[in-house]
Amino acid sequence: MVQVKYFIVFWYAVGNILLYCESDQFRNQNLYGSMTNAYPKSSCMRINDIDLVIHCLQTCMANTGIYYMSSYNREKQACLCCVDFSGSEITDSSWNTYEMTFCYTGYKDDKEDKNCLKYVPEAVTFPEAEAYCQEKGGALFKMDSQQKFDILTDFIGPIGKMNDVQTWIQAKKNGGDWYFDDNTVMPSGVCPMDNTNDSGENRLRFRAKDVKCADHLGTKRYEFVCEYNNSIKY
Ligand SMILES: *[C@@H]1O[C@H](CO)[C@@H](O)[C@H](O)[C@H]1NC(C)=O
Ligand SMILES: *[C@@H]1O[C@H](CO)[C@@H](O)[C@H](O)[C@H]1NC(C)=O
Repeated sequence: MVQVKYFIVFWYAVGNILLYCESDQFRNQNLYGSMTNAYPKSSCMRINDIDLVIHCLQTCMANTGIYYMSSYNREKQACLCCVDFSGSEITDSSWNTYEMTFCYTGYKDDKEDKNCLKYVPEAVTFPEAEAYCQEKGGALFKMDSQQKFDILTDFIGPIGKMNDVQTWIQAKKNGGDWYFDDNTVMPSGVCPMDNTNDSGENRLRFRAKDVKCADHLGTKRYEFVCEYNNSIKY
């Protein structure tokens, strides 16, 4: 698990918050909180007596160790940390909701390059997930190395494991091999596979519970993880 040591907090722009933190695993992480219209859920964990939105985000990170979604209510001085999205929507407009994007450097040889991940807790078909990521210049998470496997496992975290989070990730099966968007073959052994090989099950999902990849029909609905190579836009 990513051990978060400290945060330095900046207001990034109206509606966007940038948190810097340092972890054992990555030299430099940024967490971007972007205001969204999404509603928090009744299943989100509530923490009271929070005086500032930045403290809400910090508290959620400290309590969940995961980069999902937080909502802050200034009037109620309360914070909702959302890692379980099974509950009903809280449509009360006094909650401001922030989606978190997790970025880190040191993944590629060029230490200045950033890689950013965003978990989208909305169950959609594979093509819908793909389109969502691509719309903002990204792609579904590409697990092309052991390091990327570790990164996704850390990112989904123990809470994702507990909640049985399953996400679409990049790769399409053709004749027994898995292909990324750029037509390169997914290296074997990078993700332990649990494929049924049933007809038409040629899209890839990551199962946090048993830390495995598995095939399924692209028409099935799962949450997903997008990957972006440039932190600035998110
Ligand atoms: C990000 O960069 C990595 C490494 O160069 C590449 O494999 C991946 O496809 C890129 N992802 C996106 C969304 O462009
Ligand atoms: C699915 O195919 C792979 C590769 O051909 C094989 O290793 C695996 O055992 C198969 N799964 C089942 C359930 O037959």
